[in-house]
Amino acid sequence: AVRQLVLEYGVHHVDLNFGCPVRKITARGGGSALPLRPGLFARLVAAAVAGADGQVPVTVKMRVGLTPELSTALQAGRAAEAEGAAAITLHARTADQLYSPPVDWPAVRQLVEAVRIPVIGNGDVYEGADAVRLMAETGCAGVMVGRAALGRPWVFREVAAALQGRPPPPPPSLGEVARVALGHVEAEAAWYRGYDEGQRDSLRRFRKFVPLYLFGFHSAARLQARLLAAESLEQWRAAVYDDAGGSAMYDAGEQFPAAGFRHPRLKGGGADGPRQRMGLPDGWMEEWRGGGGGAEQRGGRDADAGGHFGRASAAGADARCGLDLGLPIELFAGLDGQPGLPWFGSDWPIQSSTWDAHSGAVYFAQGFAVMRLGSDNTVEVVAGELGAVGKADGPGPVARFTCPTCMASDGAGALYLSDRDRIRKLQLPPAWRKGEGRGPSLAAPTAAAGGPADAHAHVEGVVVSTLLLIDVTASIQGLCFLSGCGSGSGDSGTLVYGADSTIYRLPLGGASVTPVLLAGAEGEHEVADGVGSGARFNDIRGLVADGEGYCYCVDYCCDADASDVEDPRPLVLDLGLKPQHCHRPTSNAATPLPRTLPADLGVLLGRQPDGTADVTIVVGGRTFHAHRGLLCARSDYFQQRLGGGFAESSAQQLTLPEAAADAFGVVLRFVYTDAADIPAALAQAVAELADRLLLPELFQQATAVVEASVSPGTVAGLLLWAEARGPAFSELLSRLKAWYLENHEKAMQAAEEQMKLLAAQSPSLFFELMRNTRSQPSKRPRTRW
Ligand SMILES: Cc1cc2nc3c(=O)[nH]c(=O)nc-3n(C[C@H](O)[C@H](O)[C@H](O)COP(=O)(O)O)c2cc1C
Repeated sequence: AVRQLVLEYGVHHVDLNFGCPVRKITARGGGSALPLRPGLFARLVAAAVAGADGQVPVTVKMRVGLTPELSTALQAGRAAEAEGAAAITLHARTADQLYSPPVDWPAVRQLVEAVRIPVIGNGDVYEGADAVRLMAETGCAGVMVGRAALGRPWVFREVAAALQGRPPPPPPSLGEVARVALGHVEAEAAWYRGYDEGQRDSLRRFRKFVPLYLFGFHSAARLQARLLAAESLEQWRAAVYDDAGGSAMYDAGEQFPAAGFRHPRLKGGGADGPRQRMGLPDGWMEEWRGGGGGAEQRGGRDADAGGHFGRASAAGADARCGLDLGLPIELFAGLDGQPGLPWFGSDWPIQSSTWDAHSGAVYFAQGFAVMRLGSDNTVEVVAGELGAVGKADGPGPVARFTCPTCMASDGAGALYLSDRDRIRKLQLPPAWRKGEGRGPSLAAPTAAAGGPADAHAHVEGVVVSTLLLIDVTASIQGLCFLSGCGSGSGDSGTLVYGADSTIYRLPLGGASVTPVLLAGAEGEHEVADGVGSGARFNDIRGLVADGEGYCYCVDYCCDADASDVEDPRPLVLDLGLKPQHCHRPTSNAATPLPRTLPADLGVLLGRQPDGTADVTIVVGGRTFHAHRGLLCARSDYFQQRLGGGFAESSAQQLTLPEAAADAFGVVLRFVYTDAADIPAALAQAVAELADRLLLPELFQQATAVVEASVSPGTVAGLLLWAEARGPAFSELLSRLKAWYLENHEKAMQAAEEQMKLLAAQSPSLFFELMRNTRSQPSKRPRTRW
């Protein structure tokens, strides 16, 4: 991830956050739970430093510890220094304090004395004088400001002045504060431009900052009400400017209130802030108890004895629950034939396991790879690579994943996987169908079995394509497949996914892969029953379907600020998705697998020519045997040419000139199976053919693959190509333009010649891009380290 941030996104600094106190994060072993695993902590820092490759500094942010009894700062600080961190920021509180007093500045001094790299002090810096005092009392090299900047961003000039020995600049009046807030909300909307229709999400998100900006001003009540109710930036501007000074709405000259300087600006910051109960994963403390951190435990009270956190240990309990779990599973890296998981070790969690009835195997994600657990308890990589991040579509070893989280099987040879900002489709090869007897050998690769070459043979055939690109802010935490609920042709099914506080359905057989909101509302985090957009979710963590049209959803309720114990609530959702043809899972392994129309038609196509085809189609010198009725039923183009009154309708052979045979192979498989595995290299040709053959669903999928594969080196060529294709490609063209604007500098560097070609071949397009590039605000302000 660090390498990607540095090379692909050009970041100037990577700061690893080991200070997050939120219970739902620590309960999963993240944030401030990590320093309690010294080995894992050190490996993470080392990996990040290695990923940065000396090009940008990697720094570490941490708290004093998880609780007062579990102080980790000194040990973690020394480990961070040893692994190459450039600096450490210490928030001088323990995680269970959240943001409550007292702040422990002496802990900053102890860390300064324990390490040689710069330490940045953090905690309760509200004014310039606090920064000066923190540095003087602890010897830290700098300070970090947190809550004081919420609704008060000019605090930094006050701190800078104090550290340079200058008097503090005068604080802003209410009119100035209102204008700063306006600039802030405008910047927020500009940042999310393109993701945020009509700026509504930005305005909604910004509501929490309005009271922070206006805190303590006597004359701001009406202004605050207007800003909270504003539905557009225009209404914001009208409230801030039109009425400023002249009307009675607010007093633009009102002086900054004294109470505004030291207001903690966040719940949990009061004088007697309670400590929150902390959560840790089972067994998390073993390394620490085993000596890794004993030296720093204050008071000798361990976590469980203290009753603050930890669940019952599984040791001694019957973990089998009556199930025969079989022999322990050995993991194999697969692609290189080497046993074990390189450098991630067993710390890399297994995610998103799913049972696939079609191939009779379990699939799961680990690292950046998708693995298959076969019936003989061996595991192999079927797509991606454990340690290689990326977004590429393509055959198994070529495909790359960014953050695979949830997986679902359609039971007919396709897996769906949520991968950060996209839903990916993994098409399993027909030979893997259970009972075909031609499935992959799942025996562990051994020297005798042929090593790497054999391992490659195992995975060929799995093809990964991008089905849908989604808003990156909404990470998918639940995904399930419902058969027989597609909106269009036949039985392609529906994906249902949960993202943050919303649940969407994605019909797979309809006119396009467009998500439809099923329940909840974006940005609205509550727990309330209701119908569709009237229902509210807090933080969706999982979805399963029962095959009867019901989904079960886990909604996580956790208010860290209120120090409540979080509460995962399973909810039952009747999503109105009663499948027409529901295949009940069978518990009897001897029962034949259910057959589906797409699977059977795929087999029929694979058998050609078998004497049943009644038309041949010649494309690029290759002959394809097909069934006239099926072609006509699926495509109006074929209906016109083969099923209508044209002279050629009864012809036995049709020629498609100026088309590529490989691309037509993809098209034909889609016509038969409603499934498309579109390699990036063929995506443009498939999109053109799908447009020509009037197959809008395939067209959408192909253009999504084109979009997913765009890079600085290819964008100019793709822009020219899409522009030349006509109105059907205008949506893709717009998205490519937007992509270009985001990546202008990189494209100019990577593809100067292509950009010159673009300027020569389409001056108007070039001019439009340059004009919009200039008006595009810089999304990543450059900072100096
Ligand atoms: C709303 C909010 C968001 C924060 N997000 C992060 C974060 O993403 N990463 C991080 O290292 N610290 C984060 N912090 C913690 C602050 O950086 C800082 O450590 C903390 O607020 C203590 O400083 P203060 O007493 O000056 O507020 C966040 C704090 C607040 C209030």
